[in-house]
Amino acid sequence: MSQRICTSEMLVEKGLSVRFEHSDLALPAFAIRYDGKVYAYQNRCPHRGTELDWEPGEVLDGDAEYLICATHGALFKPETGLCVMGPCKGASLQSISVIEADGSVKLAE
Ligand code: FES
Repeated sequence: MSQRICTSEMLVEKGLSVRFEHSDLALPAFAIRYDGKVYAYQNRCPHRGTELDWEPGEVLDGDAEYLICATHGALFKPETGLCVMGPCKGASLQSISVIEADGSVKLAE
């Protein structure tokens, strides 16, 4: 059975992310809703390996356009995890496949 991450309503459009641990990989991760769709990534910046959050669950920049790493300010596209500005430009966050159905967000099998 797939690991449940959270209820759908916990992920508000461009709001706080939900932090979780990937059950198989034992990795800190987060899920976020952006343009109506849920995306999830390992919570590890490709630059120095720190978690992105500037406050727990806060991973979007001030305009809620990009994911941002709190350590050195790298910006990532929420839809792909690609770094478009900052010291790791061209690298990507590790994406995690998720599905949303019946009011829940789960890891994809
Ligand atoms: S650790 Fe994320 S930009 Fe440096």
